Amino acid sequence: MTTKHFACKADEVPQDAAKIVTVSNMPIGVFRLEDGFHALLNICPHKGAALCEGPVCGTTRQTDSTEFVYDRAGEIVRCAWHGWEFDIRSGEFLVDPSVKTRRFDVSVEGSDLYVHI
Ligand code: FES
Repeated sequence: MTTKHFACKADEVPQDAAKIVTVSNMPIGVFRLEDGFHALLNICPHKGAALCEGPVCGTTRQTDSTEFVYDRAGEIVRCAWHGWEFDIRSGEFLVDPSVKTRRFDVSVEGSDLYVHI
């Protein structure tokens, strides 16, 4: 069972970066994507960097030919320490989805944004 905790005002979450908050003594990054708000633990599962403070970006995807294409713009956060890329919606490492940072449900009531822990 989870409990909702006030995190910030919804309009404090920028479009192209995370809003870093502390909720229940946990560092959390709140992101605004086209489909709504998402929240991840701000700790990289690789070596513990502040994952959510890295750039919000896309990723390069391999095609059937020898090319790579830039894809999923705005849906990925890249850890600033060693460049590991994570899906903002799931918290999964793109190369190995079994490696992930914790994700939290988010709800908005009026102008207040809550993280469910
Ligand atoms: S600590 Fe995040 S990629 Fe290494």
